[in-house]
Amino acid sequence: MKILVTGGAGFIGSHLCLRLVEEGHEITCVDNLLTGSNLNIKKIKDNENFTFLEHNVIDPFPKSKIRFDIIFHLASPASPNHHSKISYHALPVETMLANTVGTMNILKVAEQDKAVFLFSSSSEVYGDPEQHPQKETYNGNVSTTGPRSVYDEAKRFGETITAYFHRDKKVDTRIARIFNTYGPGMLKSDLRMLVSFISQALEKKPITVFGDGKQTRALCYIDDMVEGLMRFAFSKNTGGEIINLGSTDEHTVLEYAQMVKKLTNSPSEIIFSEKLPQNDPLRRQPDLTKAEKILGWHPKTSLEEGINKMIEYIKKL
Ligand SMILES: NC(=O)c1ccc[n+]([C@@H]2O[C@H](COP(=O)([O-])OP(=O)(O)OC[C@H]3O[C@@H](n4cnc5c(N)ncnc54)[C@H](O)[C@@H]3O)[C@@H](O)[C@H]2O)c1
Repeated sequence: MKILVTGGAGFIGSHLCLRLVEEGHEITCVDNLLTGSNLNIKKIKDNENFTFLEHNVIDPFPKSKIRFDIIFHLASPASPNHHSKISYHALPVETMLANTVGTMNILKVAEQDKAVFLFSSSSEVYGDPEQHPQKETYNGNVSTTGPRSVYDEAKRFGETITAYFHRDKKVDTRIARIFNTYGPGMLKSDLRMLVSFISQALEKKPITVFGDGKQTRALCYIDDMVEGLMRFAFSKNTGGEIINLGSTDEHTVLEYAQMVKKLTNSPSEIIFSEKLPQNDPLRRQPDLTKAEKILGWHPKTSLEEGINKMIEYIKKL
């Protein structure tokens, strides 16, 4: 099949491109390299079934001779760490536009090509949830004006545009609400939790936990996420659906720090550095009933296996 992946030089996008090329599909990867890297696509850059197009999705999509069968729209900054230069806090306008104007532009390509369109939404649409775990029917508890709103509300509006194109323009859409995902390929500079903890542990620096570390996270390994996204996009009976993808294996942030310390055999001490950033969710976990029922999908990689692979990756950086 002919497949377009926006944000294909990013963490999730590059793993997805690699897997799709391995399965014999013809991939066009679109990215403006704002938060991604050429290094992520180094392995497949010369593959005859892979084309890289440097393009900003907020600009109209260039005329293409290819008619796409499936489009994965992943282009958007994603890191929430306010210390990172490539977080959505540091790139607020880019984040708002990629998920809104960018989503609209790519949906127009899907409409024209009669392609399946998958929007990479986020668990952030649930905000600081009052329902636990979160089902797709939960409308969320999100501040429209808080510091995370540039991302949360952009994803919510991206969903709104996607639902509109499904309802009124009959585009065959899917909305994947992605929960925290980790694995090799995450940039050190985006300072997402495990990247920071492992880097600090390997460098024998203090492992820095925000707040009291009692806030929880459930992390999904990248290979499982790619499998879920592919099952969703390739399934025939999921047009217009919203499905959570993520892990239900919930741990406190402090427990992650302790696991990293143990698995890296590091002498680093764990310190509690700052107050929890404003609007940082205390708990978040997907209800995966729908993913299991409709896609037959559930993450398989154990946390220990995933963290060990991450450690090996960060050692090589
Ligand atoms: N990683 C996670 O835990 C997670 C969780 C929820 C949702 N998501 C979503 O999944 C998608 C991919 O996330 P990721 O972790 O791979 O992030 P990432 O930053 O590694 O990848 C995003 C890619 O999009 C590109 N990009 C950004 N703005 C663009 C634009 N205007 N035009 C073209 N390319 C642009 C970046 O250069 C980058 O290569 C994002 O939409 C993100 O919001 C990720």
